[in-house]
Amino acid sequence: MIVFAGPDADFVKAYGEAPGREETVLDGRGETAVPGFVDAHTHLPWDGFREDEFNRRLKGETYASIAASGGGIVATVAATRAATEETLAGNVRARLDRMLTHGTTFCEAKTGYGLDLPNECKQLRALLAGAKGHPVGVAPTALPAHELPPERRGSDALRRRYVDECRNEILPALAGLGARFVDVFCEEGVFSLGESAAILEAGKSLGLVPRVHADELTPLGGASLAARMGAASADHLLHATDTGIEDMARAGVVATLLPGTSVFLRMNRYAPARKMIEAGVPVALGTDCNPGSSYTESLPAVAFLASVGMGLTVEETLTAMTLNGAASLGESVRRGTLEPGKRADVVLLDAPSLEHLVYHWGVSLVSGVLVGGEPVVLHGKLLRLGAS
Ligand code: NIG
Ligand code: FE
Repeated sequence: MIVFAGPDADFVKAYGEAPGREETVLDGRGETAVPGFVDAHTHLPWDGFREDEFNRRLKGETYASIAASGGGIVATVAATRAATEETLAGNVRARLDRMLTHGTTFCEAKTGYGLDLPNECKQLRALLAGAKGHPVGVAPTALPAHELPPERRGSDALRRRYVDECRNEILPALAGLGARFVDVFCEEGVFSLGESAAILEAGKSLGLVPRVHADELTPLGGASLAARMGAASADHLLHATDTGIEDMARAGVVATLLPGTSVFLRMNRYAPARKMIEAGVPVALGTDCNPGSSYTESLPAVAFLASVGMGLTVEETLTAMTLNGAASLGESVRRGTLEPGKRADVVLLDAPSLEHLVYHWGVSLVSGVLVGGEPVVLHGKLLRLGAS
């Protein structure tokens, strides 16, 4: 826990003396300490890459046209269904390691590439197993409504059947395994506003807190739905309308923005972050780490895009990748700032001032990380801990 934060002179005033011989002193002089980063949106437990799709987009295809030709989310669903729980857990652990080296100390992570009862449960168990004993804390989200599974396509009856399976079978099982949030991809051609509301309501009745993939590709009204549902967060929001933003502000919904996805999918558009901040909506950031629309574990990379792409100041960017992400995950009492009473999750940047976090771009400045007061990264290298 942090018991004091401030200049040495104030410490001496409060405690009568400087830290003594019994204490371990980690000297960060010349560097800059910031709170551990919070990645508020990831899809960690998956198998298989989609680098071919990435190159196809560079040759002119779009995310939608690739999905229509059998790629997209369903390609990852096939690979993830074919993978063992152990493989998925190992993937999660490797991704958490990489996140930690880039300064992330807490993250959200979703299912959503299983899309049936056994495979959604396998993904959640793998997430929990991969995160067990790992320094990076994980808040698990149930996302069986990420896409309509291939075997439930072709008729309205099959479609209704999958929505009912999500509500009556998959969400209860995921809640039983330890999910804290329920999410849905509310989008034209994926889940409608009505279907999304029914799925989120079912999650709420199980004690899960809603988050929503909202207004990413079209202005369907996902931001307003998130507000009506009392969601903790609405995410993506590239096409959020003024009404949607007002509704989110009134309901206290955090906007989790994913500018990495904007550039990765070559969308030529970002979420209207400035409008949101002016309307009083707290803005958080996430990597969206997944194999199709944003393959990165680095929140500092996303921070660069948040500032340069969406026009957030360095201070706003830091707040978005720490305190506001923690708030969207119900963790702001414990995490997100360096102040007495909070966990000592600290990132040390090899930088003479905070601005360097964004200004010195494209390189990793994370030289040290403390999680709960324990050093887990030193000199930019992950320490191998007893637990792993
Ligand atoms: O958050 N928007 C929907 N879902 C993911 C995409 C996942 C994928 O392409 O595999 C996202 O970007
Ligand atoms: Fe996502």
